[in-house]
Amino acid sequence: MYKGRLVRLRRLETDDVSAILPHWNNYELRQYLPRPLPTGHDEMIEYIKSANEAYSKRKAFTFGIETLDTKKLIGLVNLINISWISSNAELGLLAIFDPEHWGRGYGKDAMLVTLDLAFSTLGLNSVYLWVASFNSRAIAFYEKLGFKTQGKLRELAYRDGQRYDVVTMDILKSEFLEEHGVLPK
Ligand SMILES: CC(C)(COP(=O)(O)OP(=O)(O)OC[C@H]1O[C@@H](n2cnc3c(N)ncnc32)[C@H](O)[C@@H]1OP(=O)(O)O)[C@@H](O)C(=O)NCCC(=O)NCCS
Repeated sequence: MYKGRLVRLRRLETDDVSAILPHWNNYELRQYLPRPLPTGHDEMIEYIKSANEAYSKRKAFTFGIETLDTKKLIGLVNLINISWISSNAELGLLAIFDPEHWGRGYGKDAMLVTLDLAFSTLGLNSVYLWVASFNSRAIAFYEKLGFKTQGKLRELAYRDGQRYDVVTMDILKSEFLEEHGVLPK
């Protein structure tokens, strides 16, 4: 259980499907996620089961983002492709489901908790991510948290008949600690 100022990160349960699906299949959110196709109930159950299996094997950590006040599940975040030898991980997914909840500080709080977990609990040294160049909100958001742009892969993303570059960003443990310190537990 990892807690910030506004949210806590918790394991997913198969019962969470009904809270996730309506938002998951909303194009306003979906356009920013890697897979553009809508997801069904059974597919989401499988996703949660395999995410929890990977969690148990310490291969990837997927969390539900829950508000501290209403205890509502409002998003998902995960660290995937963890290399315990090179001490790095990819931020595979970050989503605050409901666009009404965007811009209220939930994403930042969830990311601070995730990065604190990565650097101060898991002992990783670097977290990196890929973000489509049209997702300027997310790019500004990650920059604000201290991520630095490292490059781009040309025309890797495709949305609504158009191709877009994908931007790669990363943050090192030393940079995170300098800017944010170790979060109080
Ligand atoms: C990207 C996302 C996770 C950000 O979370 P959020 O809760 O909306 O962001 P926050 O309210 O925590 O904002 C944190 C900072 O990001 C920046 N930011 C947020 N929205 C912004 C916008 N529309 N334009 C510019 N900067 C913005 C702000 O500078 C803010 O800093 P502040 O604390 O000084 O205000 C969220 O909007 C989301 O889930 N979007 C859809 C899915 C997505 O794009 N995921 C990322 C895929 S790689």
